[in-house]
Amino acid sequence: MRLLFLGDVVGRAGRTAVTNRLPDLVERWSLDFVVVNGENAAGGFGITEEITQELLDAGADVVTTGNHVWDQREALVFIERQPRLLRPVNYPRGTPGRGANLFIGRNGARVLVINAMGRVFMDSLDDPFAGVAAEVAACPLGEQADAVIVDFHAETTSEKQAMGHFLDGRVSLVVGTHTHTPTADHRILPEGTGFMTDVGMCGDYDSVIGMEKDEPLGRFLRKIPSGRFAPALGDATLSGVAVEIDDRTGKATKIGPVRLGGALSQAEPAFWDAA
Ligand SMILES: [Fe+2]
Ligand SMILES: [Fe+2]
Repeated sequence: MRLLFLGDVVGRAGRTAVTNRLPDLVERWSLDFVVVNGENAAGGFGITEEITQELLDAGADVVTTGNHVWDQREALVFIERQPRLLRPVNYPRGTPGRGANLFIGRNGARVLVINAMGRVFMDSLDDPFAGVAAEVAACPLGEQADAVIVDFHAETTSEKQAMGHFLDGRVSLVVGTHTHTPTADHRILPEGTGFMTDVGMCGDYDSVIGMEKDEPLGRFLRKIPSGRFAPALGDATLSGVAVEIDDRTGKATKIGPVRLGGALSQAEPAFWDAA
C-alpha cells in the first residue's frame, strides 16, 4: 500500500500547493491513501468546512490537526459532521469531534488514523501515549486494521521520537507535525514502524514557520507586537513523507521524504517509479 502524508498546510500558499500538485501525485504514484495536516490552512490559523472539503477534493482521505484546530470557531460545529477531519485524541472527554477513525483506502485496506498532541512546551492535554495506545488496542494492526497511521503533533523532537519508539511494531507510521520544518531522520524503526520526527509544512519557507517574516522577527527583537501574523504568500513547498506499507503485515518497508516546489531542495521517493 502506498501512503503519502503531508505536513501542516499553511494559508493560501500551502493550499494552492496541495490543490495544484496532489491530484497529479495521487495518479502518478498510484497512492492508496493520503493524510494531510490542515491545522493552519485557514489564513494560518485553523480550518473551515470549505477548506476541509477543498483538501479532500484534492485527494486527501483524512485531514488531521493540532493545537490550532479550534482557531476557526466553526470547526467546533462542523467537525461533528465531518468524520474525515480529526482533532487530537487527548483533548478532554466531551470535546467535539474525534481523534481517531477507521477509513478504507483506494486499495480496500482498512486504515486507522490517529491524531494526538504532545505536552512539552504546549497546552497540556491528557496523556498522549495512553490515548494513542487505547486507540491501537481497540483496533489492532493485523486484526481490525491493515495499516495504522499516527500524526503526533508536538513541539519537541524528544517527545516525538519517544512516541515513535513507544509504538514501534504496533503501527505502520508515526509522523511528527507542528514545527513546520522537516527533519532528515525518516527511517524504519527496528520493529517495522515508519518514522519521521517532523514532516515540515506545506507552505512558503521564505518565512518564519510559514508566516511573513517582519512581524515574528520584530517580536523577537523588540518583544512588542506591532501587527498580526500573516501567512507568507510566496511559492510553497509541498512537504511530507512517502511510505510503502506491506499489505500482509502492515509494517513499513520503504520511506522517503517529499519536497516539491518552493525554496527547499527537492525530494521525491525513488522507490515509486514515475510513469
Ligand atoms: Fe502547524
Ligand atoms: Fe501546531
